[in-house]
Amino acid sequence: MNQRILRQCGDDGLRVWTLARVDGKPNLIDETFLEELEGALASIEKDPVAKGLLIRSSHPSVFLAGADLSQLSRKSSRDLDGLLSRGQDAFAHLARLSIPTACAIEGACLGGGYEMALACDYRVLSDSAKAVIGLPETSLGLLPGWGGCFRLPRLVGLFRALSIVVSGKPFRPAKARKLGMVDEVVPGELVEPSAREWLARGKRSPGEFFFTNLWPVARFLSWRASREVLARTRGNYPAPLAAIKVLRKATFAHFEEAMSLERRAFAGLAKTAAARNLVSYFFLRERAKKVDYSFKSKRLPEIRRVHVIGAGVMGGGIAQWVASRGIDVVLSDLSPDALSDGLRTVDRLLGKARARGILSTVDARAAMDRITPVSEAVPLREGDLVIEAIVERIGAKRSLFADLEKRSEYDVPFASNTSALSIDSMSVAMTDRGRLGGLHFFNPVHRMELVEVIRGPHTDPAVVESLLGFVRRIGKRAILCKDSPGFLVNRILVPYLVEAAELWVEGWPADKIDKAMLDFGMPMGPMRLIDEIGLDVAAHVANELKFRLSHLGSPPDLLERMVDQGFLGRKSGNGFYFYKGMNRGNPVLNHDLNSLRHKTRTLSKKEKKGKEEIIDRMILVMANEAARCLEEGVVEHPEDVDFGMIAGAGWAPFRGGPLRHADSHGLSQIVTRMERLSRKDGNRFRPCGLLLDLARHGECFYPRQRMISKSSPATTERTKS
Ligand code: NAI
Repeated sequence: MNQRILRQCGDDGLRVWTLARVDGKPNLIDETFLEELEGALASIEKDPVAKGLLIRSSHPSVFLAGADLSQLSRKSSRDLDGLLSRGQDAFAHLARLSIPTACAIEGACLGGGYEMALACDYRVLSDSAKAVIGLPETSLGLLPGWGGCFRLPRLVGLFRALSIVVSGKPFRPAKARKLGMVDEVVPGELVEPSAREWLARGKRSPGEFFFTNLWPVARFLSWRASREVLARTRGNYPAPLAAIKVLRKATFAHFEEAMSLERRAFAGLAKTAAARNLVSYFFLRERAKKVDYSFKSKRLPEIRRVHVIGAGVMGGGIAQWVASRGIDVVLSDLSPDALSDGLRTVDRLLGKARARGILSTVDARAAMDRITPVSEAVPLREGDLVIEAIVERIGAKRSLFADLEKRSEYDVPFASNTSALSIDSMSVAMTDRGRLGGLHFFNPVHRMELVEVIRGPHTDPAVVESLLGFVRRIGKRAILCKDSPGFLVNRILVPYLVEAAELWVEGWPADKIDKAMLDFGMPMGPMRLIDEIGLDVAAHVANELKFRLSHLGSPPDLLERMVDQGFLGRKSGNGFYFYKGMNRGNPVLNHDLNSLRHKTRTLSKKEKKGKEEIIDRMILVMANEAARCLEEGVVEHPEDVDFGMIAGAGWAPFRGGPLRHADSHGLSQIVTRMERLSRKDGNRFRPCGLLLDLARHGECFYPRQRMISKSSPATTERTKS
């Protein structure tokens, strides 16, 4: 049996249970864990000298990570109900023990793990950086199903319980204490002694009175919470709404009734496509933590110092992130003013991380101290990595890398943060072209977990392996991409944005296009996104991609004309929307643009009302490009495409990514719709070879056994060097 609960008896009558998996992996709740727990509970109940129970974990960073999702997603409705009942009964048994119980929590305590902690009298949490606590079920399309909806409102009041469950966020120690989720936060070495002190107080006295748990207040709070969720999610996420309802009802229900409410709601949610896709996305994120290149024959030294060249938006963000992960950074820029701006950016970001409790004051200061600003060339030494984040001009990047190579006698790996330029072409002036790869961070660096690791045709496999290892070490998640125009995310995003511009030129209003895509589940409408990127940058990237990829049509000349007339988007205060004065936060349509529509089509009444055509066209161009990326080997697996688009572009996670979404519609249907559109609207809708092939053979991107959860390995076949 893999899951173990080691039981120890102290002379003082204190019983200590240690959650310890045999394989040393993080503790999870599954059938075997529950079996162990049931056994331990049965024996402690019969223990006449037991005076208290302390539960701790042997894992250094995880107390109890919650339900084993790989098991959950495979269960039939009946088995799922059985598992839920079994967990509810075991935790109820724990709560009923006549002796006081406490959890000494070091590390992560999430989902079912926290529900078990809720069944104890006391919870003491360590203040370590790894400690997080929360109920993330709604972010997986589910809800707490092991008594959490019953116990949490009684511990912290309904108002806080709603925000904890609906947000699905993991909370850091200070915030968790403030919310009342734990009784005390102490340094790691004091967690157990402090839990013992809490146990000495005896059983917890009956729950506190909460004004928010009065019936009319609770009704109002849950109504307001549902309204906020609906406004935010546009009805695309059923789980938070179901959780609000269950929490409200469970606050007033008897225990048995509340347990049955939880189980029924959980089972209903588990069947939804949203839950299936969100659980799949959880596994895609796990998979992206482990991407490697399986290149073991030559290893570069571990990276101990990073040179970030260019202290602009990206350089500053990268320097801050790397330094706060404990790695020394040398930050340089041609311009002293840019360098001091870059340092100010770092300082501001560290301040934000401190304010949000992500970094302590000491850690934030240490991160700042790790950054050495320099304005002249610094010798490169063994264990260094260079990340270039200078202007997006091939000439400047080429000469920088040639110069860097001359300055370094060691095998220092180089990486460019270019958005779309060719890594191969950047290395032409180098003698050893194998040294250069790409690390494409996304903006803002501290919020975006994806990094595209780029493998150029000459990049040494050892450099690729070293870059992947570096991404893992700094806590980001990688996809490995071939050096091709726009890599993965921008390559798929550009045709989508170009299609939005086409729709606008045809006469669709910008706000209608945006609303359609927001309703679909995108985090921002495409017209707003073009404004944010800047019309000049969007036009440049679209032209660059079109120049390098023959199948892409020309972007409408609208973009260039907008640039010529000074409509640059948010940075100039006007693009598809107006951002000036009162409208800065809530922009309004820019009607001055209408004169730029030279081939206006009058929309029929039906077209004006419906959003289907917009969504269809926007999503089909993306699905086609996503399939083409797979066909050309830009990435190797459909999982890379879907993870990249969700993590890098915010593609609606509850729909599972462009390829999984295409699968769910059936590829032959997708192809038929594309062919119809290509007859009417042009070549850009012509399905690529891979799509045609799969549709013809009745296949899909994800073979059935991989539809949910455990996906293809993250290891990429290494091209023989
Ligand atoms: P930026 O214009 O904010 O900063 C570039 C900095 O590089 C400037 O401070 C400039 O003084 C400096 N610089 C120029 N030539 C230099 C040289 N030879 N040596 C040292 N410093 C030099 O640019 P940003 O936005 O930070 O972009 C940097 C790179 O990251 C570009 O390749 C861009 O395509 C890429 N990128 C940008 C993203 C964004 O959203 N801004 C997102 C992802 C990648």
